[in-house]
Parts: sequence; C-alpha cells; structure tokens
Amino acid sequence: MRLAHVTDLHFGAEAPEVVAGLRQDLAAREVDRVLVGGDLTMRARDEQFSAARDLLDTIGTPWTSVPGNHDLPLDRPSRAYGGLDSYRRLIDERAEPVVRDGGLLLLGLSSPRPYLWKGGRLDAGQVRRIGTDLAPEARLKVLMLHHPVFRSPQRPHEALVHGAGAALRAAATVRTDLILCGHDHVAAQAALPGGMIGVLSGTACSWRVRAGESQSYTVVDLAGDRLTLTVREWHDGAFRERSAVEWRRSAHGWQA
Ligand SMILES: [Fe+2]
Repeated sequence: MRLAHVTDLHFGAEAPEVVAGLRQDLAAREVDRVLVGGDLTMRARDEQFSAARDLLDTIGTPWTSVPGNHDLPLDRPSRAYGGLDSYRRLIDERAEPVVRDGGLLLLGLSSPRPYLWKGGRLDAGQVRRIGTDLAPEARLKVLMLHHPVFRSPQRPHEALVHGAGAALRAAATVRTDLILCGHDHVAAQAALPGGMIGVLSGTACSWRVRAGESQSYTVVDLAGDRLTLTVREWHDGAFRERSAVEWRRSAHGWQA
C-alpha cells in the first residue's frame, strides 16, 4: 500500500512551477491514494478551491481531504456564518471523511474553528469518533487532521491542536498506526505514545516555506510489518528524495 500525504497547498500563494512539479511527481509515484491535510487555499476563495481541485483531479489517483484554518473565510461574517461552505461545495461535502479501501482505514477530522484565528481544536465528540470509527481491524489505521498533535524539532514552540492529549489517548486505545498533520510547514516524524507514528508534512506547493525548508510531501509505503516514510522535497526544479525512514511493527507498536 502506498499513500502520499500532501498538505498546506495554499492556492492563492502557490508557486506555479512547484504545482506543476508536484502533479508530475505524485503521478510518477503511483500511489493508491493522496491524503490532503488542509489549507488547500490561502483565503478560502472559490477560484483558489477550484485550482486545488484541478490539481487533485489531474493526478489520476483517488484523494481524500480535510480542511485547514485557511479554508475558512477571513472576513468575520462569512467566517462565522458560512464557515466551510465553499470547501464543502468545491472540495468535498464531507469535511470529516471515513475511508475504507483495501487494507486502509482512514478517519479525517476537521480541526479549524471560526472563533480560533489560526489554532485548531478537537472536541469531545470528535475524540469519541476516533474511538469508534477507527475501532475496526485494518492493515493500516490512519487519523488525519490539519493541526499538529506533536511538535517538530524545527518549530518546538508551535501550539498543538486543543484536545491533542485526549485525541492521542483515544487513537492509541484503538491501535491507530499513523497520525498525519500539517499546518507548521516543516517535515518531521515522531514516535508517539502507544506505539503510533506522527507525521508532519511541509507546504506542498506554496511559497510560504519556513525554518529554512523547501516545499515537501511525504510518501507512506506499507509492506507487511515495515512502513517507510519518504520525504520528497522541491530542489533544483524537481521533487527529490530528502530522507527515508523505515519503521517496524512489533507487539508494542511502531519503532523507527
Ligand atoms: Fe494551517
């Protein structure tokens, strides 16, 4: 099973040559599914959602998305009353998809909130859904949300999603394998409590790079009890392999 975690596309602040390179590189990876971690747009405008949708629809592979804080409109009335309306109309009616496909079981949760400027939250109902929607057996159980549940070494002072502790406990209880996050615009991975793997991917195709990093995304390869996380980074006009880390599944969960 091969997946690609692609996040923080930020159409409206995209670098066109990186968008073209991303489309090409994703198609060449022949992944089973592209998982999109939110912030598809810069300002939640229709033309920005449409440009993101055009990229996703032309990769030639199924994709699944969750929204990020930039996918809520900026102006107060539409943020409060419209919320994710444009996201639902132009990207996906379901902001919290459940996907069962082959050995994959994925739950996507929506962490942006109109009343939080850029932070995110998982409430008690969403934490409960982790415990129920990710309970069935699967070869790979994945939880995806926009805001991070762990801190990267590059940006150690960034805020975590509110409710991160409860979400991690619920995910570990049902033996979730992978938690995919974005928002920080850096690539990192971590061994999380309960034997889970945390993945942060960088901004896939915007010029909003941070901490000296370039645009990047992560390829997830599962073969038996081995899982390889490959970070592909934009460098010299193409996406190239930056790092590959192999994780192994044991009775205690995943270890690098
Ligand atoms: Fe974000």
